[in-house]
Amino acid sequence: TTLDVDPASYDAGEHASFMRKEILEQPAAAERVLRGRLDERFGTAHLGGLNMDARESRAIRRVKILGCGSAYYVGQMGAGMIEELARIPANAEAASEFRYRNPVIEPDTLYVAVSQSGETIDTLLAVQEIRRKGGRVVGLVNVVGSAIAREVDGGIYLHAGPEVAVASTKALTTMYLAFALLAIQLGRVRDLSISEGRRLVTALQALPEQIQTILDTEEELAAVAHRLAQARSLFFVGRVRGYPVAREGAQKFKEISYRHAEAYQTSELKHGPLALIDPEVPTVALVPHDELTDRNLAALHEIAARRGPLVVITHPDVDLGDLAQHPEVTRIEVPRSERELDPILLTIPLQLLAYHAALTLDLDVDKPRNLAKSVTVE
Ligand code: AGP
Repeated sequence: TTLDVDPASYDAGEHASFMRKEILEQPAAAERVLRGRLDERFGTAHLGGLNMDARESRAIRRVKILGCGSAYYVGQMGAGMIEELARIPANAEAASEFRYRNPVIEPDTLYVAVSQSGETIDTLLAVQEIRRKGGRVVGLVNVVGSAIAREVDGGIYLHAGPEVAVASTKALTTMYLAFALLAIQLGRVRDLSISEGRRLVTALQALPEQIQTILDTEEELAAVAHRLAQARSLFFVGRVRGYPVAREGAQKFKEISYRHAEAYQTSELKHGPLALIDPEVPTVALVPHDELTDRNLAALHEIAARRGPLVVITHPDVDLGDLAQHPEVTRIEVPRSERELDPILLTIPLQLLAYHAALTLDLDVDKPRNLAKSVTVE
């Protein structure tokens, strides 16, 4: 598919904005990035564009992910999946910082550049610096034939379709899924068993429909967003897999609603920001059903005790206990996936919260002030 569509010849149709259109297109975009890449028989993924055979994949000792803004946050989600599923040390870094600190480039590290536009200058220059020093870079890029797509050694095209709104939504979802495919593939040439691989392949196949069920709750989310929009400042909190989700949620909120939103690890609240919690400062908390549910809930009690309003994004089978009776607590449910794949479903309601908060405030959701769709100059 060619994605070089001229935005001028493309309109938001019956939707109020490009951003809403792009949010609603996510089930279809998710299907496109997965199409033809899942192998049910061997419980793995086929990613021919990476130009890496099994022996080369196995030789990778470390994965370093580079992107800017939301692409960096999804990179953090991707690093988590790669460590969990392939047991390869992985981390993400802002490309804008990486290229200025004379980074050590290692021959057995796989560098992954993530970019919707494929034109972000910091990410592009990071790619060039790595390749100049002999490192191998693969790209997770949406725009076919873009500068980054042309520079890398191989990659995974995202097939998200054209994204016009400055706030990225569907491209990020496809980046996440591309990372899931990469993590499964790297895992399956290592110690991820065939049954584990199949478990994840099946879960990936279910995601487009699960995303749709979240989009179907838009009205409910809009009501919550109206309330959040009244706050001058808010927190987004999560732990481990949930933390990059919180970062992305805060980013989206800041970007289009111009409200101060800060992401924090739930576990770190008591080391400082709890001092800011009061009835005027809401917290959006990610509490999936996982090994940290109880610890997450304990931290939320600390917030509720200070009468901080709470929006808890959680799974249907999580029991909030006393918190459920609390007048300041709102519960939002997302369907469960396999826990390694939970972050993407937790992210979707945050997009709609940001979107409806901006609408409530009567702001231009597609073109927020001071921002460009892609930052191509230094
Ligand atoms: C996302 O909502 C932002 N507009 C921004 O952070 C964006 O993700 C970043 O500028 C990277 O863009 P790219 O994916 O085109 O490289």
